[in-house]
Amino acid sequence: MKVIIEKDYERLSKVAANIVKDEIEKKPNLILGLATGSTPEGMYKELIRMHKEEGLDFSQVTTFNLDEYVGIDKDHPNSYHYFMKNIFFDHINIDPNNTFIPDGTAENPEEYCKEYDKLIEDKGGIDLQILGIGENGHIAFNEPDEYLNLNTSIVKLTESTIQANSRFFDSLDQVPKTAITMGIGSIMKAKKIILLANGKKKAKAIRELLKQDKLTTQLPASMLLLHPDVTVIIDEEAYEG
Ligand code: F6R
Repeated sequence: MKVIIEKDYERLSKVAANIVKDEIEKKPNLILGLATGSTPEGMYKELIRMHKEEGLDFSQVTTFNLDEYVGIDKDHPNSYHYFMKNIFFDHINIDPNNTFIPDGTAENPEEYCKEYDKLIEDKGGIDLQILGIGENGHIAFNEPDEYLNLNTSIVKLTESTIQANSRFFDSLDQVPKTAITMGIGSIMKAKKIILLANGKKKAKAIRELLKQDKLTTQLPASMLLLHPDVTVIIDEEAYEG
């Protein structure tokens, strides 16, 4: 696991965007795994700048998002579909037909989860996966528990995640309690992974992860220690706490 510590969020975002850019330039039809949330917003902003000012070309790129709330419509302002469209997709030249986000309203969720993993595989697998990390050490919505799901699954969100995500909703009880998420196995199949973390709130989880001494389902991000190509990019606040 490679660790890069950057001075602040702006630097972290630029370093992450540069890695994405390099990978697209190496492979224009890159299969890119994406995350939502506050952490990657700066990276998306920088990628949009690179597209507009430097001609970074997304026309052949395919994206797969990690997760989506269950029971929230794609047009709902709190859906991850809405987030991705507004924050990123609408501002670059990606073909909307090449952007995939789990469907939280699928009629047969179990069948749908299998189809999502199969679609990733059929497209050739994820070349580069971007991850954030929860305050509780979750990656995607794989929450600390006795076991972790290997494949894309429907999961219950923990109180700590519901609390953390309530900042985007009008009230706590509006936050969905379940989500559809790529599993740990789906994530680990990515050829290259970047995990981003900024701010003091992430310091505890990052401290545990950077000990690099144990795998535990209580810190889902620790599973990344088994992956051969992970880069953790953090700012000083996430490092020092
Ligand atoms: C979102 C996701 C989550 C977030 C994590 C951190 O697609 O997979 O694991 O990365 O909850 O969220 P932020 O970045 O809002 O602190």
